[in-house]
Amino acid sequence: MDLKNYVASVKDFPKKGIIFRDITTLMNDGEAYKYATEQIVQFAKDKQVDLVVGPEARGFIFGCPVSYALGIGFVPVRKPKKLPRETIEYSYDLEYGSNTLCMHKDAIKPGQRVLIVDDLLATGGTMEATIKMVEQLGGVVAGLAFLIELEDLKGREKLKDYPVLTLMKY
Ligand code: PRP
Ligand code: ADE
Repeated sequence: MDLKNYVASVKDFPKKGIIFRDITTLMNDGEAYKYATEQIVQFAKDKQVDLVVGPEARGFIFGCPVSYALGIGFVPVRKPKKLPRETIEYSYDLEYGSNTLCMHKDAIKPGQRVLIVDDLLATGGTMEATIKMVEQLGGVVAGLAFLIELEDLKGREKLKDYPVLTLMKY
């Protein structure tokens, strides 16, 4: 199945010059959604994964069905002030300003093997922050899976130490 046929490319969203790769059209098609999920499940199969971690919000859309299929838990990574118990956080720089992501402090036990899932790899900042938090809690990052990789932004260079799966490249 050619998953690119199910991604809508929207010019000048959210700002002029950006081509937004919209995965809601892929989710809208049951077969495509299932196929994409199954590719990630296959990638995880030989990695002895204990948990799936996914960054808000689009990481939930693909991370949760993968964790369900593997019969393992899911850990949400969220923006500040969303998680009710004790959290750890990680801040990183954007072109203008910065971003902070959070995770519950007790979400991962030392030694647990983690697959991190998100819809799209752009600069890699979100994934790098997520990796740092997983490792701070003693988790072992066993793999990283994305539907889409925006190659020009070279996010993969930040992820050299880990097995990476991307289902589509633009
Ligand atoms: C998007 C996307 C990834 C991230 C990729 O999320 O879903 O998580 O950006 O960009 P990066 O590689 O440069 O970090 P966004 O922050 O727009 O949040 P959303 O999923 O809540 O829309
Ligand atoms: N997140 C960062 N860049 C993006 C893009 N071009 N399309 C969709 N989501 C994105």
